[in-house]
Amino acid sequence: MFERLSAPKQDPILSISVAFKEDPRPNKIDLGIGVYRNSEGQTPIMAAVREAQLVLANTQQSKSYVGLAGDEVFNKAMVDLLLQGTKLHSRAAGVQTPGASGALRMLADLLKQARPDATVWISSPSYVNHRPVMEAAGLTVKEYPYFIAETKAVDEAAMLAQVEQLGESDVLLLHGCCHNPTGADISLDAWKRIAELTNSKGFLPFVDIAYQGFGDGLMEDAAGLRILADSVEEMIIATSCSKNFGLYRERTGAAIVIGKTMEETMKARGRILEMARSTYTMPPDHGAAIVAMILNNPQLKETWLTELQDMNARIKRLREQLATAFQAATGSDRFDYFKRHKGMFSVTSLSDEKIAMLRQEHGVYLVGGGRLNVAGLRESDIDAVVKAFIAVGA
Ligand code: LMR
Repeated sequence: MFERLSAPKQDPILSISVAFKEDPRPNKIDLGIGVYRNSEGQTPIMAAVREAQLVLANTQQSKSYVGLAGDEVFNKAMVDLLLQGTKLHSRAAGVQTPGASGALRMLADLLKQARPDATVWISSPSYVNHRPVMEAAGLTVKEYPYFIAETKAVDEAAMLAQVEQLGESDVLLLHGCCHNPTGADISLDAWKRIAELTNSKGFLPFVDIAYQGFGDGLMEDAAGLRILADSVEEMIIATSCSKNFGLYRERTGAAIVIGKTMEETMKARGRILEMARSTYTMPPDHGAAIVAMILNNPQLKETWLTELQDMNARIKRLREQLATAFQAATGSDRFDYFKRHKGMFSVTSLSDEKIAMLRQEHGVYLVGGGRLNVAGLRESDIDAVVKAFIAVGA
């Protein structure tokens, strides 16, 4: 049966984690996959999550099925976290999914059903899984200009010039905050312009927000998405609890749909449930039950917010320290972009050859394209990373 299969492709991010695990060198440094690590190099279970898990273990009465949409308390909490107070809030419906990847796939399948000829526009570069997920759903994918490698900033003029060309069969996939992989976000003025263009050109905004709370703060990071939600008529959102609740392996996310009417929203939501049934049936419960408990308990929510702010502040400090160490070692400010970027990642734009040298000769692991996970750094690794970069001629 399987003799005709061609060899499977390696995932550009997950294969780095495998290679890193297999590397026997004790001083290796993993700056690949997007996980937050503390000064000891660990990805801790957040205090509020630990507490909620204990409550859950002691009070949960059953492991019976929950339902196709998962935990409705969680779904409401996720919708509120992003949209409360905006014009679209009352028309929004959430469906719990296995991570935001699950949400991306469900929403891609929904688009294929609603508009089989839709083209999804992704940034160049974008999260490495955006194109595969959209194409797996049978959608056409095209790229809009986004990043200037020399300045490490967003080329908003070029991006908006492309967005101006979009029409009713187009879907514009935007990163809500902390752009993956570049770390460079668009300005609020650009979000406002995109909202205007959405209304005049008729394309659909699709926001992937996987790092809420890792940029400027929980609410601040949703500011662009909320500009859209106050101006446009319909949009779709994929959101994640992997990073801001540290629930990576629990696969906790949500797909949010907002139609032009409540009837349209409910039809779209129903279609997602139908597709969930023929894919995985129901999302896993544990992570969503924890998030629902935290967001509905003022004390747990406070504990969570404080820890999230601490993580965010530490990422900012790491960014400062990295830029300062590069400045001291090179006498130049060309690595200052680490300070300007937001969230976990920055793209270094190193060549494939230099990325390979970093890995082989120095045990420093980056993702292809040069994405560096700043949030995976230990303070004690900074000097070694800077030395390795200089040694490979970065
Ligand atoms: C990443 O970009 O490293 C993470 O979002 C992990 C993933 O699912 O690809």
